[in-house]
Amino acid sequence: MKNNIEIKQIIKPFQKNIEVSADKSISIRSVLLASQAIGKSRIYNLLESEDVINSLKAIKKLGINFKKFKKFYEINGFGINGYDTNKNITINAGNSGTLARLILGLLVNSKGEIKLIGDESLSKRDFLRITDPLQKFGVNIITKKNCLPLKIIGSEFLRPIKYTEKLGSAQCKSAVMLAAIKTPGKTIIEAKKSRDHTELLFKYLKIPIKISKKKNYDTIEIKGPSNFKGFEYNIPGDISSSSFFIVLTLLAKNSKIKIRNVNVNNSRTGIIKILNKMNSKISLRNKKNYRGELLADIVVESKNNLRGINCPEYLNSSAIDEFLVIFLVAARAKGVSTFRNLSELNKKESPRLEMAIKFLDMIGIKFKRERDTIKIYGNPRLNLKGKYTINNFRKDHRVFMMSCIAALSFGGKWRIHDKNSINTSFPNFLKLLRYLGAKID
Ligand code: S3P
Repeated sequence: MKNNIEIKQIIKPFQKNIEVSADKSISIRSVLLASQAIGKSRIYNLLESEDVINSLKAIKKLGINFKKFKKFYEINGFGINGYDTNKNITINAGNSGTLARLILGLLVNSKGEIKLIGDESLSKRDFLRITDPLQKFGVNIITKKNCLPLKIIGSEFLRPIKYTEKLGSAQCKSAVMLAAIKTPGKTIIEAKKSRDHTELLFKYLKIPIKISKKKNYDTIEIKGPSNFKGFEYNIPGDISSSSFFIVLTLLAKNSKIKIRNVNVNNSRTGIIKILNKMNSKISLRNKKNYRGELLADIVVESKNNLRGINCPEYLNSSAIDEFLVIFLVAARAKGVSTFRNLSELNKKESPRLEMAIKFLDMIGIKFKRERDTIKIYGNPRLNLKGKYTINNFRKDHRVFMMSCIAALSFGGKWRIHDKNSINTSFPNFLKLLRYLGAKID
């Protein structure tokens, strides 16, 4: 089947209400936690994307059964020592850094040797950031050049650790938190601010956790070992998936969108704060609290006097998956936008800072790059006429989706390869774009 798409016209004005797919971070976390709970858990509105399906396959390999019902997945756990790890097992995390890193935290007490593999993109990503702290628990991990494939052999004699997480990586923080629930004693984590879904789930599950929040760091203390019971969770919409529709609406003519029931946890809403500083007026309506998470409807209208931003660094972590589309807004804004210290952007499914630079160059936007800082010289009259081909992007789902938004916003004739990449996080993406009126062949 054809795996590329063509877009030849910008989107016409639209006024629509939509729902995007469920949050990927919370979907993976809830599958993994349910697999370690005592008894049955029910997860409603689980994201059915490849990263989450790979999470379900991973727990199955570890002896945990799940069943799909019409409205929920039921997962039957046997507690924190409940994985069957006696035989040699291979877990394939596919494209998912979150699954790969978080599951390592849950394998610290495995008995046999477990091999962890991933796809081409994941096999190029850094695992030292996670093998380093996990080995301090007393675990044996064998890697070549700190990448996948790796082997982990757990320990019966885990010891608690003190760990400073300096990258602002929720994956590293969460993996250590998961290892801590299996480890006797108090694990102390000092973590640069990053998304806090794992902390909120721990609180909801009554896992002993103490958090003290400082300006840039949180100190997290977890007392283990700690079992917890099966639970119910209804996964809200994903702000990272919403971001493509937020930016499309902002850059379209005379359009308006309401995206219903999205997780707008403060540690994820960097995009809204950044775009509002660029003179957009994105509002959150109908706010409510769900299991400690903030949910809301996001309302966005088109805006034609967007301005550049000197983006404060403290917003980087809460917008880390959204910079590619934020750069599109900077490309159309009046004035210069500066984004600093974006080294983590090159540690994703593809080196996204490099991808962004190639992209901006291709569409004729002036920029200056100095190490991890990028300055984008916006052009409010940006109106493309040429032919553009997007390929060789390590099948990065977010590069694919960002390219679609650029094509529908800036004009030109586009051929975008590797359509299947959207299955990683947002299988419905093209269907929703068509629902808004986008012409995609
Ligand atoms: C995620 C954390 C972020 C993010 C990723 C999902 C998570 O990665 O980029 O898409 O669910 O914890 P890092 O922890 O590497 O920053």
